Amino acid sequence: MDPSLTPSAQTWKEKAREFSERFVRPVAAKYDRLQEYPWEVKSKLAEHGFMGVWIPKEYGGQGGGVLDLCVVVEEIARGCGGMGVMYAVNALGSFPIILGGTEAQKRKYLPEIAAGRKLIAFGLSERGAGSDAGGLSTRAVVDGGTITVDGDKKWTTNGGAADVYTVFAVSDPESRSRRISGVIVEKGDPGFEIGRAEDKMGIRCVPVVELHFRGCKVSTDRLLGGERGYGFKHAMMTLDCARPGVAAQAVGLAQGALEYALVYTQNRQQFGQPISSFQMVQQMLADMATRVEAARQLVYAAARALDAGPSAGGNPTKLAAQAKLFATDVAMEVTTNAVQLLGGYGYMRDYPVEKYMRDAKITQIYEGTNQVQRLVVARALLKEAMGLDGLKAYMPLPDHPNTALDRDRAAGRA
Ligand code: CAA
Repeated sequence: MDPSLTPSAQTWKEKAREFSERFVRPVAAKYDRLQEYPWEVKSKLAEHGFMGVWIPKEYGGQGGGVLDLCVVVEEIARGCGGMGVMYAVNALGSFPIILGGTEAQKRKYLPEIAAGRKLIAFGLSERGAGSDAGGLSTRAVVDGGTITVDGDKKWTTNGGAADVYTVFAVSDPESRSRRISGVIVEKGDPGFEIGRAEDKMGIRCVPVVELHFRGCKVSTDRLLGGERGYGFKHAMMTLDCARPGVAAQAVGLAQGALEYALVYTQNRQQFGQPISSFQMVQQMLADMATRVEAARQLVYAAARALDAGPSAGGNPTKLAAQAKLFATDVAMEVTTNAVQLLGGYGYMRDYPVEKYMRDAKITQIYEGTNQVQRLVVARALLKEAMGLDGLKAYMPLPDHPNTALDRDRAAGRA
């Protein structure tokens, strides 16, 4: 029992752990090798009610929050990082509808996703617009009752497997703050095609593809939220809710690799004793476990802040970015150290830890590189620092000659 979890999150975590041991871990290596979508696992996820964890009850979901979603992602990723994202990316794709969709859009799409009958993906990034998410060039021309989408998307996780896509495109090129709109596109819409699938280092069981729109026409009831110009905001709000999920994926990966390292080091004999008896190995294990736990608690704190909302007084955007950057850096370090502890065996594909390391790398990149997360954190910090103005009285600043220190000096007290 983790006291930082709500009773509901605790229940989901236990359920997901059991699921992961039974259905995910045994097939993780197979799907990594085949680079195929694990349809059998997805069906089991749906059967066990996991596909609707984050979807409100009135739309057929389980009514859970970001914390519930995170603990499920963590446990799936503990068995397989690729399957962690194969699951979590449906939350990324559906958050724009949950946060910004019209009532009719929610009623049409969310129950299908919650039941696992339909999969969904998120189409934001482009060849020329990765970190600069506002620099999109895909166009969505709204004319009468029709939206025509033209352009290409890059790195769409779940693309091809998904039936529904929340796509972001420029609808109002002249507008400064309301250039972008969200459009819901379905597989089979005329002019919409799934492009090249990438050959990836890790998360190999889930497709990452290009999307092509060539005069793709859909009716205006597919305009996200029914109004133009809110796409960037909806995309950013979505990323706030989804980034703790990437962080949870990283915690699960790191925990999974750590557990293999713990078992291996107690069984590997060198110099006549298990290598876990050596202090240098113990130090590595202790540091790995400490960093995983610190990351986990930060992820839970970010998820709780998102569930509580900004009115609760925290800054969920900042915490989500902090959790994402910290947990994913920890995952990279811990999985690399797990390979190190397994030595020559760790480097071989017969052993599970090199896959954790390959799967971990992308978590530092997607849903905003960790450089972007640091930018988000720094912007929030500098804004919050306005409230620290009173501290100026206690330090000599160039524009503040009358500080308390100066006064104390003048009075011979310092
Ligand atoms: N919530 C609500 N609104 C927000 C917001 C947030 N978190 N962040 C910004 N906004 C709003 C701002 O208030 C501002 O609104 P106004 O114009 O009304 O003032 C507007 O959006 C523009 O904000 P910024 O000036 O901060 O925007 P920017 O251009 O400087 O970009 C950025 C900021 C943080 C760098 C952003 O571009 C970003 O997050 N980039 C990374 C994108 C990303 O994560 N891409 C990954 C996509 S998904 C993926 O990886 C593939 C996959 O399938 C898994």
